[in-house]
Amino acid sequence: MEAAVEDAAPTAAPAAPPVPGLPPGPRMPRALQTAIWSRQAQWMLRQSRARFGEMFTIKIAYEGTWVMVSDPELVKQVFTGDPRTFHAGEGNDVLRPFLGDNSVLVLDEKPHIGQRRLLLPPFHGERMQGYGETMTEIAAREIESWPTGTPHKLRPRMQAITLEIILETVFGVHDKERLEPLRVALRDFLDLTTNPAVLLPVLLVGPERVRSIPTFRKRIDRVDALIHSEIAERRAAEDLEQRDDILSMLVAARHEDGSPMSEAEIRDELLTLLVAGHETTATALSWAVERLVRHPEKLERLRAEALAGEDAYLTATIQETLRLRPVIVLVIRKLTEPVEIGGYELPAGTRVTPSIYLVHRDPAIYPEPDRFLPERFLERPPGTYTWIPFGGGVRRCLGAAFAQFEMQVVLRELVKRRQIAPARPGSERPFRRAITETPRHDAEVILS
Ligand code: HEM
Repeated sequence: MEAAVEDAAPTAAPAAPPVPGLPPGPRMPRALQTAIWSRQAQWMLRQSRARFGEMFTIKIAYEGTWVMVSDPELVKQVFTGDPRTFHAGEGNDVLRPFLGDNSVLVLDEKPHIGQRRLLLPPFHGERMQGYGETMTEIAAREIESWPTGTPHKLRPRMQAITLEIILETVFGVHDKERLEPLRVALRDFLDLTTNPAVLLPVLLVGPERVRSIPTFRKRIDRVDALIHSEIAERRAAEDLEQRDDILSMLVAARHEDGSPMSEAEIRDELLTLLVAGHETTATALSWAVERLVRHPEKLERLRAEALAGEDAYLTATIQETLRLRPVIVLVIRKLTEPVEIGGYELPAGTRVTPSIYLVHRDPAIYPEPDRFLPERFLERPPGTYTWIPFGGGVRRCLGAAFAQFEMQVVLRELVKRRQIAPARPGSERPFRRAITETPRHDAEVILS
């Protein structure tokens, strides 16, 4: 099935004329659907697919109407659709007060492509190798500081690692005196962007008005002042060409007309990379450990291969973790005009949402879909439209190679240095934190 999807020509028009309107879905009131979604998203997705099939509608407060798609053919149609019709940036408007108007996450069409073009080179897969040493040092140092012999929640520890890695590789700050205030301000900024108590008012009063709330403004101003000082320092650096951090590359980057990125553009993209890359990667790492400790034979295989300097099983473990426990369960494209998808003529304004979770749990694509089986990816590499933890098309996660490389480094250092056992008997269930699905008990383990 996968091969057929990968090689398929654009989806042929169905014989029957499209049905105008939305596919069926749960009939409950929007408020009730929202309540269920916020606590039991995966259950709701499974139930709805069982009842309504590959395409169904759910209604979520503040989010509008979502049309879920999980057939890889339809996912392909959405990911490869015209970016003028399939807007992703609009769906991220809630992040605008934090990330600014230039953030690649909140833009669409030409402005989006312009920013993405500037950000792509630093994230090229091969470039990641250059960050290997820094990442390994940070991971080793942090892991050595973790307590042994007592139950210990790994998620906050993984967050500390991913933050340090971003400070070094993205911001390029190594100097201790500059690092500490930046670290404190960025942590505070991250708290803002992941705190539901903050995000809700943003949704209620709207992104524009939120910027005028004094306490909110003060916290953003603090982080901005530090970032602007880093940008100024970097602009003045004489060894810019030799530096390999992402801020230095953005300072050197040029728009198509030859002009440099503005101060505001660089600021917005730096914070975008922080927000997009910090919690997501820490969560994926926590899930990898949560799954591995409940499969000791797989953990042992991973350790043996890591000690032998082999990466194939490590890579497969990461791919399987992101399949079984995707950090983000769906991506959103808002239609700017009516589009025919899966036999329906969906009206403009609909949000089409490829469901990462449902694609990854489809037994036709992944036999025994609920089992943690890294081996499946040793036999067959992930498909573009059947393995989508990083979304797809012109909006595919810019940090996908970065995140997977970072996960490899951290997991390798962890299994080489520590024995790991679960701190509680049962599997940890997914728990929604802002937009990420995290292990309910923060991947609690006992290290020795
Ligand atoms: C395991 C870790 C990560 C996961 C699961 C993840 C997942 C995602 C997903 C699902 C999207 C939306 C894609 C779409 O709409 O089709 C996205 C976008 C994005 N991610 Fe990641 N991400 C991760 C790590 C990172 C890292 C480390 C960075 C950068 C340092 C990053 C930067 C971005 C950016 C800039 C975008 C916006 C791309 C655009 O709109 O053009 N992500 N990510």
